[in-house]
Amino acid sequence: MDVFRIEGPVRLSGAVGINGSKNASLPIMAAAILGGGKSVLRAVPELSDISVFSELLGQLGCKVGRDDNGDLWIDSTVIDNPVGEYEIVRRMRASICVLGPLLARCGRAEVSMPGGCAIGDRPVDIHLRGLRQLGAQIHLKNGYIVAEAPQGLTGKDIFLGGPFGSTVLGTANVLMAAVTAKGQTVIESAACEPEIADLANCLNKMGAKISGIGSPRLTIQGVKRLEPVEYGVIPDRIEAGTFMVAAAITAGEVRLAHCRLDDMVAVVDKLRNVGVAVERSDDGCVVSRRGAIKTADITTQSYPGFPTDLQAQFMALLSLGEGNSVIIEKIFPDRFMHVAELNRMAANLRKEGPTVIVAGVKKLMGAAVMASDLRASAALVLAGLAAEGTTTVQRVYHIDRGYERIEERLNPLGAKIIRESI
Ligand code: EPZ
Repeated sequence: MDVFRIEGPVRLSGAVGINGSKNASLPIMAAAILGGGKSVLRAVPELSDISVFSELLGQLGCKVGRDDNGDLWIDSTVIDNPVGEYEIVRRMRASICVLGPLLARCGRAEVSMPGGCAIGDRPVDIHLRGLRQLGAQIHLKNGYIVAEAPQGLTGKDIFLGGPFGSTVLGTANVLMAAVTAKGQTVIESAACEPEIADLANCLNKMGAKISGIGSPRLTIQGVKRLEPVEYGVIPDRIEAGTFMVAAAITAGEVRLAHCRLDDMVAVVDKLRNVGVAVERSDDGCVVSRRGAIKTADITTQSYPGFPTDLQAQFMALLSLGEGNSVIIEKIFPDRFMHVAELNRMAANLRKEGPTVIVAGVKKLMGAAVMASDLRASAALVLAGLAAEGTTTVQRVYHIDRGYERIEERLNPLGAKIIRESI
């Protein structure tokens, strides 16, 4: 059980390279199931979530490994056990996105129903609704979703909107089931996240016929089969956003290489609103802050709106703002485990339902805090960089799920983070 010991305040400066996207890699790894051979994926980050997903694919019958150059390869020639076991799914909810490709490839799939989550209620009813509309028979058996389509799937017009807008992995599941279904499928209210566009581009490279990529309407002409692929995943916009906030909260100046500003318009807009400079550069940008942190109102939305996965990090930043800010969480209304921990660091945050009033304070103070989920823990690390004194962050394994050895990328920029095993 690792702990971070962080000394603050520091001022970050220098350059950092952004890794490939975790949330693009996971559904694209699932898509390899449809290739029926050896696919090679470039820029897939070394994260515990990727290792768990590799373990899941191995359990289905795939062979998975890394080349010397770090490329991840997945050989799905054999899928002899289309079952996503509870022991794996309980460690990572995103495992659910093997359901669609397994159903398309094998005509039958069993995946453990994902359970509770620290960020709130996360049902998969829309995933199942979409797969049923493609003709799958679905029932629940001893905690497992059992999906069957012995005669194959048939294309349909499907509305995938939900109470909180579109669903990212729901779109991925239905899209991967539809690419080899008979006839045409139209997905309305599809997720427009760059990670879904990346998945669709990868599927088209495997031989699928998808149009409307990046829009809420995806049209899929079913094809007989897909081929294995060589594909490079997009940079991680949430990791990039986290490093941008690191530069901003420490009044530093950091050059981010290999990040796509076009995927981050709402994020960059918010940073500029609070007094942070974001200058575009050849393959990324330079982020710096000189003056005070201004206030802002943030409402999380589906893409291209402000991402929920950066809500906690911006709350840490605005906790040092010159006045009151308001944060409304519209995607996961209970995603506020970081609030009490930041208040332990002398932030002044008041939660009321899906809203947090952030009353800016002059300074944060180092304290012992507890990580609860991936993005909340990133926010605690960022707060620790700006806080006076020592911050210890427990349960660092949450961070390792989405950030590749973050301390080894922040320390060269001037951070003072030590990882200790207790
Ligand atoms: C993806 O989760 C991401 N995970 C999440 O990032 C991200 O927070 C989320 O999208 C929203 O952007 C991956 O890509 C692996 P959703 P997903 O289905 O697909 C409701 C991180 O930090 N909903 O788009 O599971 C749901 O409860 C992670 O990297 C239903 O009601 O999220 C939520 O309120 C955390 N029924 C909203 O929709 C459904 O069947 C959006 O969820 C599906 C979703």
